[in-house]
Amino acid sequence: MSFNEEQLYRPNFHFTPQNNWMNDPNGMFYLDGEYHLFFQYYPEDNIWGPMHWGHAISNDLITWEELPIALYPDDLGYIFSGSAVVDINNTSGFGKDGKTPIIAMFTYHDAIAEKEGKIDYQTQGIAYSLDKGRTWTKYSGNPVLPNPGIKDFRDPKIYWDQDHNQWLMTLATYEKTFFYSSKDLKNWDLLSDFGEFLGNHDGVWECPDFFPISINGTDTKKWVLLQSINPGHINGGSGTQYFIGDFDGKTFKLDTIFQNQLEKKEAIWLDFGRDNYAGVTWSNIPKEDGRKLFIGWMSNWEYAQQVPTKKWRSAMTTARTLELELINNQYFLTSKPVKELNTYLNKISTTKDVKLIGNKNIINNNSDLLSKASVYLKISDLKQDVYTLKLSNSKNEVVEFGLNNIDNNVFIDRSKSGDLSFSNKFANSASKATLDETLTEIDINILIDKTSIEIFYNNGTTVMTEIFFPSIPFENLDLSTKNKSTSIIKTLEISQINSK
Ligand code: FRU
Repeated sequence: MSFNEEQLYRPNFHFTPQNNWMNDPNGMFYLDGEYHLFFQYYPEDNIWGPMHWGHAISNDLITWEELPIALYPDDLGYIFSGSAVVDINNTSGFGKDGKTPIIAMFTYHDAIAEKEGKIDYQTQGIAYSLDKGRTWTKYSGNPVLPNPGIKDFRDPKIYWDQDHNQWLMTLATYEKTFFYSSKDLKNWDLLSDFGEFLGNHDGVWECPDFFPISINGTDTKKWVLLQSINPGHINGGSGTQYFIGDFDGKTFKLDTIFQNQLEKKEAIWLDFGRDNYAGVTWSNIPKEDGRKLFIGWMSNWEYAQQVPTKKWRSAMTTARTLELELINNQYFLTSKPVKELNTYLNKISTTKDVKLIGNKNIINNNSDLLSKASVYLKISDLKQDVYTLKLSNSKNEVVEFGLNNIDNNVFIDRSKSGDLSFSNKFANSASKATLDETLTEIDINILIDKTSIEIFYNNGTTVMTEIFFPSIPFENLDLSTKNKSTSIIKTLEISQINSK
């Protein structure tokens, strides 16, 4: 049987544009039952080019409808990444006839100035919408934040800081994060900067996000800074590190527990897989809901423009809920698939309390299921052994992932996953996330689409997201142990992710 590109590669439950190039998620906000997702988009080719904001909406964060392009480049430049907020009190003054304005803020990238060798070619601009994000008017006073003489000066994330009664803008500036404040979203004052000597600096800092969140089960609030970097990720290329601390309305100071964690590692990563980049959170989520909802770009600049899809290039991750946990005096910013995904799950089987000795087949000869599967696995009585889950097909293509309980890591290896020819960086090494100790129990929540796997270990404390391109669909999922030791599968739940 032969497959065309759509059949083989177009994801079943991840957002892709119908045509052409996409990178970072941008400007996500919620309003009146609609989750908006904008994205870096080049409508004329399947590689990066003059950037627009594409647009999609969803009422459940899973099924997306693509809408017309929201923002086009203009005389000030391409429209790079940024964010959007609902200006409920019309602080910007763009509201009219009782209509609440939505303000998008983005980076203008002046490609001509860049070519001429200038360094101040990135500035920040705004646009507003009075019709629920359908159409946008750019502000005549743009740019609202000129360039102070810094080469990489971009990706504004705006947030209503209720505690300090100000609009906050978090901006990536090469190797630091800058914080600005405003009363009207047009005039911005620099508050402070952060991070020059903290975390990873092997690449350019990009696409920050900054927000307060309570430690799970407590009323204690901490501030989280997400700070993407490219390159520099622990497993290669693009990745997102995070920092936990306190914010007094002016400066961000690391929490001492987090500081201790950071002293032992060079950076703390949101996702240890290679394909979750530039992710940020939704704004204007109703208080009653209160979740921090996140989506990332499911690719990596090391090979994003070469992956073997032609009609479109790249997908977003599944939307996730971020939570802050303090476990054994360590912070974890955990990720879990949004609960809306549950309404798509068609349970196929549940198995409880069976012995695992050697191998166990989990899904057999079912490529349909393995192109849209949710598998939840809890294993106890773990021994010093390697627990490998393997996706495979009859062409001997495999994706292996799981727990190495000898070397203390979780891993994913796509070095035999199918087409690797497009880039020698795609599968040059397996990805790993080091664990602090040998485990006696693990839970693994796995989402499998045609070209991606998202693995949430131990309640989302360690996450790995990676893509792959098999020449025919995967058909089997097996679990095996290297030393054939005996463990217990406490729970195995297999579901199909159906469209609605
Ligand atoms: C991150 C990034 C951003 C920039 C955008 C351009 O992937 O480099 O910093 O705004 O992509 O498309």
